[in-house]
Amino acid sequence: MAPSASVLILAIDTSCDESAASIVDAEGFRLLADEVRSHAAAMADYGGVVPELASREHVAALPVAVDAALTKAGLTVGDIDWVAVTSRPGLVGTLLVGMSFAKAFAAANGIPFSTVHHLDGHLYSAALAELEGETPPPYPWVALVVSGGHTELYYVEQFGEAKWLGGTLDDAAGEAFDKIGKQLGMRYPAGPAMDRLVREQATDAHRKRHPFPVSRTSEPHSFSYSGLKTAVGLAIEKARPLSEDVILGLAASAQETILRQLVRRSKEALEAFPKATLVVTGGVACNSRLRALLPEAHFPKPRHCSDNAAMIGLVAALEHRHGKLKASSWDATVSPR
Ligand code: KG4
Ligand code: ZN
Repeated sequence: MAPSASVLILAIDTSCDESAASIVDAEGFRLLADEVRSHAAAMADYGGVVPELASREHVAALPVAVDAALTKAGLTVGDIDWVAVTSRPGLVGTLLVGMSFAKAFAAANGIPFSTVHHLDGHLYSAALAELEGETPPPYPWVALVVSGGHTELYYVEQFGEAKWLGGTLDDAAGEAFDKIGKQLGMRYPAGPAMDRLVREQATDAHRKRHPFPVSRTSEPHSFSYSGLKTAVGLAIEKARPLSEDVILGLAASAQETILRQLVRRSKEALEAFPKATLVVTGGVACNSRLRALLPEAHFPKPRHCSDNAAMIGLVAALEHRHGKLKASSWDATVSPR
């Protein structure tokens, strides 16, 4: 049995192709379990996420992930005090699986549930270290959130006070990795594959081989990646036949161009807010080259950068700490945006 002073939150995220469940003690501020079941392998044969298929994968895997989280934490269903669930943004069908599960769990156990915005999860995942007994980066933050669906810059005064500075005008950085990697013959999701290939085999010469232009968007703190995708496509046609070395040169140069834009915009934001700590979160924050290019930044552990439910539990725990944790009503629903 859990000690009575604890507030045990079961957190759930099914926004895309990971069935994720975590358990957070909001009173003791500890992460007790963090389970992620990825469906990327099932999606790879299709070259990307098939929403219908992902929803069915969640129906099978989410209860297993929740059960595993309870077992890891040494808890039973009746110990849980609260359910926190991602309600937006994401794929409507997959979100619905998580939301329906959360409502059913809450109703069956006579406990409240609340919704969490997936991007708040990524944003505040910079502070996840605190749930594991480590010191989180001090506020204020300049926060770069880079995932498969988002590339956003925020100025964060403290928890709950994030000001959006700007974002991508077209593709997200992770989407650029996935689409360019696919053109180069890599399986979905191509971001980790490109990172690994370049890290293990590329030289400086590979990184500089194709001087792809970095989009100079006129809006401050904004990003653009659709032009790069076209430029790489044209370079691929010119470079055929695609030997291993040709692919390496294209991958290394494209990755460098994607990352240079992230680095430049982050540094510009830091110039505007010189007292801020730079934090970088979201799936693309796993990238080893990005970590090397921004040694001054705080990056969460890689498993907390890609989709997970620890970050959703963290947001609910922070709301609890700030007296902002409010139960949602039964008509709460999901939204793609
Ligand atoms: O945050 P996330 O798991 O899901 C979304 O909310 O989108 O991010 C997934 C994205 C994918 O586009 C994936 O290719 C990219 O993050 N990604 C990476 C790396 N690991 C994941 N991109 C570059 N390098 C990586 N190591
Ligand atoms: Zn995400």
